[in-house]
Amino acid sequence: MRILIIGGTRFMGPHVARKLAAEDHEVTVFHRGINAAKLPDSVVQIIGDRNNLRDFSREFEKLKPDVVLDMILLAESQAKELVEVMSPIPTRLVVVSSCDVYRNYNMLRGEELVSNPIEKITEDSPLREKLYPYRKEVRDENNILYNYDKIPVERIVMSNTDLPATVLRLPMVYGPGDYQHRFYGYIKRMIDDRPAIIIDENQAKWRITRGYVENCAGAICLAITDQKAADRIYNVGEPEALPEKKWIGKIAKKAGWAGKIIGLPRDQLPEHLREDLHWRYHLDIDTSRIRKELGFTEIISRDEALRLTIEWERNNPPQKVIVDSEYKAEDEACSGLIK
Ligand SMILES: NC(=O)c1ccc[n+]([C@@H]2O[C@H](COP(=O)([O-])OP(=O)(O)OC[C@H]3O[C@@H](n4cnc5c(N)ncnc54)[C@H](OP(=O)(O)O)[C@@H]3O)[C@@H](O)[C@H]2O)c1
Repeated sequence: MRILIIGGTRFMGPHVARKLAAEDHEVTVFHRGINAAKLPDSVVQIIGDRNNLRDFSREFEKLKPDVVLDMILLAESQAKELVEVMSPIPTRLVVVSSCDVYRNYNMLRGEELVSNPIEKITEDSPLREKLYPYRKEVRDENNILYNYDKIPVERIVMSNTDLPATVLRLPMVYGPGDYQHRFYGYIKRMIDDRPAIIIDENQAKWRITRGYVENCAGAICLAITDQKAADRIYNVGEPEALPEKKWIGKIAKKAGWAGKIIGLPRDQLPEHLREDLHWRYHLDIDTSRIRKELGFTEIISRDEALRLTIEWERNNPPQKVIVDSEYKAEDEACSGLIK
């Protein structure tokens, strides 16, 4: 197959490009040339900005991709442009979306407190009613996050009659190369041999579905290569979302850390650990549809995924450091609770 990837060089993308190339597909990645990835020689690169996607129409038409994978479709205007540019080509769109489309996400953030929590979110669960989740934080209209919303993106690609499309709702993705360093706060405390890791007692019970980077890439590849994925929406992620305390426990075991994981009421938490979230709203995603319909299974076990992620975080710490005053506040908060 001929596959055009918009993006493809930062986190999940290189795994997707490598796997497809290894399966003898003809892969082209389109990106700005800011994030470079080690890709096989057979992968063709087109350097360009998706904000000028129309300028590349001719090149895409000449390429005639059987599938266009869009890794970074973030806003409605981008989706409209994508559909317009790709419509003359007989192709299928595969779009990377997010589980932040579900209403539970807004309930977690206190933006919609209207219904009971959904314990297990399927592809048919209610979506957020309030759009543009990051507008409050990002006030600059020129920042892409101001207009970020995968709900209108999904609507546009799924309602277009010229092009079949597949939407993949990704979970919280972890693994080597995670530029959000989602594990780091825990791992750093383990490396520093802290006596305890403190979290909100409600967060200790909170569940979010995660997915290891290479496994998520595997799901994306399946959706590209299997025609059955046309006009379908799939949740992607690990089969079981562990309560946060258990998740930290798994990391601790792998990292060889023997400290305590302590849940405290919100008012006893140090300021830097307080998050304004409603922890009874889980983001626990049912991923059985992609498993049943496309035969998705994890390539890398969770055990190995944790090992590789810990190793990477140890060797690639983020710039933000934990300051002494944070540890001091944590010591005070759990004094008397550690023997
Ligand atoms: N990480 C998570 O936990 C998570 C969860 C849910 C959903 N997602 C979704 O996953 C997607 C991102 O995944 P990823 O980072 O693994 O993808 P990726 O394909 O590995 O990296 C992003 C790519 O986009 C390119 N890019 C960025 N801005 C561009 C622009 N204006 N024009 C052209 N290319 C551009 C980057 O290269 P250059 O910088 O060289 O242009 C890079 O190749 C997003 O759609 C995100 O919403 C992520």
